[in-house]
Amino acid sequence: MAGFWSDQRGLLCDDVPLAEIAAEVGTPVHVYSAPLIRERFRALDSAFAGRSHRLHYAIKANSTTAVVRELRSLGARADANSGGEIEVALRAGFTPDQIVFTGVGKTRGELERAVDLGLAAINAESPGEVDRIAAIAHAKGTVANVAVRVNPDVVAGAHPHISTGTASTKFGMSIPDAAAMLRDMARRPVLRIAGLHVHIGSQITDAGPFAAAVQAIADLARVVGTEGIRMRHLDIGGGLGVAYQPGEKVLDVEAYAAAVIGAVGDTDLELVLEPGRWIVGPAGALLTQVVDLKTRARGSFPGDTEEMTPGLFVIVDAGMTELIRPAFYGAYHGIEPVAPRAGAPIRADVVGPICETSDTLGRDRELPPVEVGDLMVVRDTGAYGAVMASNYNRRPAAAEVMVDGGTWRVVRRRQTIDDMLQWDE
Ligand code: LLP
Repeated sequence: MAGFWSDQRGLLCDDVPLAEIAAEVGTPVHVYSAPLIRERFRALDSAFAGRSHRLHYAIKANSTTAVVRELRSLGARADANSGGEIEVALRAGFTPDQIVFTGVGKTRGELERAVDLGLAAINAESPGEVDRIAAIAHAKGTVANVAVRVNPDVVAGAHPHISTGTASTKFGMSIPDAAAMLRDMARRPVLRIAGLHVHIGSQITDAGPFAAAVQAIADLARVVGTEGIRMRHLDIGGGLGVAYQPGEKVLDVEAYAAAVIGAVGDTDLELVLEPGRWIVGPAGALLTQVVDLKTRARGSFPGDTEEMTPGLFVIVDAGMTELIRPAFYGAYHGIEPVAPRAGAPIRADVVGPICETSDTLGRDRELPPVEVGDLMVVRDTGAYGAVMASNYNRRPAAAEVMVDGGTWRVVRRRQTIDDMLQWDE
């Protein structure tokens, strides 16, 4: 079976017991299932089979080279959000014409590298940026592929921190500004208009905002098309959400594809997608070990309830340094023991060792009884887990393991204290 499941050996990833991985590489460790990554990439790709399209994997979701390389081998292309992610894409084997480059505030160095490489598209965020790209292309005697990122003023996304498509956010250009920009770009021989780009947010679970955003850029392409402005693609960004809680209602890939394809209408422009979370999120889990237990009193903290006492703190060796999503977005991730013990369930806050109250991976969860030394798993951490890690409290970065059926290998070794301190004078 692909992904995370359990039998009498406890929790497994594919055919490998998680206890075996913990025994060899220690904890905390991020574990990824290559078969599940493959399965999910193919499901998304086939949902768009009826329409000419390209899937540019959003490297920001998980940029561990082995993960990116796995996606390349499946036929994905790449979406990079920084100079660093462009280099990851190249090392993972992508060619420049397979990479699109997005990002507010691209530096001169990043733009020069992007123009030199001849990327498939630099998604420009402002008129000033288009000017800078044109100047660089002119100086180098080349032509740059530039797409315009549109801000369609659509509300979407699970949390204000990851909502990017409303007019008041820093992302993209309004439709009138984008139209004026395109007319100006069409007159510059050093620019080739690659397409239009939109990305309205992440962890989106209904079709309406996607359809509205896609329709906005399809309409804009049609309007400027009547003026003779041609382009290659419509890049609809990423953002498709996954179910983090049991029974959580999400948009399935077929419904997503139907909404998007319906909204683009009859244009023959190629569709570009930039999915991240949907492909890799459920294909990863964070394996951690219980280091301490203590009683939890009911205090005056907002949300404390009568039912919470008596309760426990289950203190594990992973925290906001390995997975910041609960602390940063109030995100829910399933948490369970690798080998559940028999006995009355407990109510507990599963917390990390870091010196912040927000270092809580799961609040007031019902769990089987646990003891110090037990292994636990935090689910659905394949996207925006390891990539958002920090060395806060001088904690070395966790190891990462890729499982493939019955075999597994370390794809990023655990950082050592010396690794972490090597840049300090
Ligand atoms: N394209 C662009 C331009 C993006 O900014 C993003 C994500 C994606 C594609 C991929 O979106 P996805 O399919 O993964 O939703 N750290 C947050 C998520 C931030 C997303 C940022 N942009 C979290 O942990 O929820």
